[in-house]
Amino acid sequence: MKQYIRFMKPYTLYFILGPILMLTEAAGEMFLPKMLGEMVDRGIGTDGAAGMGIPYITAHALMMLGFILMMIVGGIGGHYFSIKAAVNSSSDLRKAVFDHIQTFSFKDIDKFSTGSLITRMTNDITQMMNTTRMLLISAVRAPGVLIGGVIMACTINARLAAVLLVMIPLLGIAIFLLLRTAMPRFTAMQSKLDMLNSRTQENITNVRVIKSFVRDKLEIKRFNKASSELRDSTYDAMKIVVCTIPVMTIAMNIATLVTLWRGGNTVIIGGMGVGSLSVLIQYITQILGSLMMVSMMLINSSRAAASFGRIMEVLNTEADLNDNDAKNRDKLVTEGRVEFKNVSFKYYANREDNVLDNISFTAEPGSVVGIVGVTGSGKSSLVQLIPRLYDAVSGEVLVDGVNVKDYSLMHLRDGVGMVLQKNVLFSGSIEENLRWGNENAGMDEIRAAARAAQADDFVTSFTDGYDMELGQGGVNVSGGQKQRLCIARALLKKPKILILDDSTSAVDTATEARIRESFRAELKNSTKIIIAQRISSVIDADKILVLSDGKLAGEGTHDELMRSCGEYREIYYSQADKEKEVS
Ligand SMILES: Nc1ncnc2c1ncn2[C@@H]1O[C@H](COP(=O)(O)OP(=O)(O)OP(=O)(O)O)[C@@H](O)[C@H]1O
Ligand SMILES: [Mg+2]
Repeated sequence: MKQYIRFMKPYTLYFILGPILMLTEAAGEMFLPKMLGEMVDRGIGTDGAAGMGIPYITAHALMMLGFILMMIVGGIGGHYFSIKAAVNSSSDLRKAVFDHIQTFSFKDIDKFSTGSLITRMTNDITQMMNTTRMLLISAVRAPGVLIGGVIMACTINARLAAVLLVMIPLLGIAIFLLLRTAMPRFTAMQSKLDMLNSRTQENITNVRVIKSFVRDKLEIKRFNKASSELRDSTYDAMKIVVCTIPVMTIAMNIATLVTLWRGGNTVIIGGMGVGSLSVLIQYITQILGSLMMVSMMLINSSRAAASFGRIMEVLNTEADLNDNDAKNRDKLVTEGRVEFKNVSFKYYANREDNVLDNISFTAEPGSVVGIVGVTGSGKSSLVQLIPRLYDAVSGEVLVDGVNVKDYSLMHLRDGVGMVLQKNVLFSGSIEENLRWGNENAGMDEIRAAARAAQADDFVTSFTDGYDMELGQGGVNVSGGQKQRLCIARALLKKPKILILDDSTSAVDTATEARIRESFRAELKNSTKIIIAQRISSVIDADKILVLSDGKLAGEGTHDELMRSCGEYREIYYSQADKEKEVS
């Protein structure tokens, strides 16, 4: 709760005005029945006595009308400010969560799962918003009506109102028991919703793969399972919630019955007027109604508390990777020397086997370093340590002689251009996508980068050229075109260190050769680290690293490795054989 106050503060005025204005409704509900009772008993006159007549009734009616007008204005104002307070504060909360997620490392995102983060940012925050609004409207109003009603009922006939003394505590206990059961069920319900969202998200983003494997039926089955689990857990939680309604109704009816029975006798013996009795019953109904409102409020709050906990879990997760301890914040990457010193790495601290094991090598500024190795040997893991997408478990990764942990993340990542193995483009025009590399690039720079990545030709062949809109994830360009756009985007950054993780796998060999050629011509001073499946992609590199099961199995030029490294020869010959088969 303390943490939510931070988000309420800017809207303090709304948070105060909302509930205060709602009090006018409570006041109206408190006095109107009493006035009505008086109007009946004294104006018309019951128990045989003559009434005070039309003038009295008119005066009372006008007074009541005034009260009603006040209630309308207060009610509208109260709702208005409550909505404003709830919507604004939760929108700020959502922004804060989004901003915070941006600081997350890959590891943090993996931990929560994308689906769960989306649920937390949407459904959970909406839950909070609705509850905040409801609380503002009824947190003061409902207890106001409750207390005011009890006082008014006592002024009419304290002896008859005593039934409330029994009913209210009994209902309080019932509500408490219901709530205690409901709360854990709400938490369970939200986590089922997470699962459903994760499934849906995974399914819809990968719809192409699903269709090509004709997995639709299986996916529907998996979705149905998640969906029925959510249904069951919602049912579990809701059945507790709906229990409150009959409990309340029964209580209300019993209280009315008792009052009618005892009050009827009092009226008969002339102890009070019929008007007073009907007003008393109205108060009792009102009191129990407001008790019901309080219980609904508590139930909703317990649900929102579950959501709030989930939101705070995100906000309180300190990004696993940050630059708070960086000693050399102002340092920029100027040369592009990369050095690994006895680096070991694994994704999960509790796993025994290292994904990378005691790796040492140096990439000199301006050189081309190739990395080859069978699939799963740790190539992507290795390069991800350079821009600190993950941190080494032991050993040091140095850029220009400085540990990467001592750079500010911004400067380090500015100096390192990386084309990830699983790269994506975003919806927006091609030009906008390329500008990610450099927001201020002129059109000539953009075209130069595209030319170097062998993308300019096909882009200009599109009717809209660089203005062509890409679909979400870049669906409307081919795999090889997408890879070339991703390379152009990285080139535009003019990075001192350029890392390509299997980034030309979908590009034909001739085009790939041209890309390499332009790297040599235009990125003379940048260190180029190139991961490749095909030996031909790195054959003329200054240095090739051979990875095998997380270990460095060989290091040297192509000729050196052909002489000294068994693993390298094996990869080379297997590919040469394939080429022979093809030709
Ligand atoms: N995000 C991740 N979380 C946990 N384990 C991972 C993750 N990414 C990769 N791994 C594991 O780390 C090991 C090395 O994977 P890596 O992606 O570095 O291989 P690679 O050499 O790049 O393979 P490929 O040639 O197929 O791209 C693999 O055993 C893989 O299962
Ligand atoms: Mg890889």
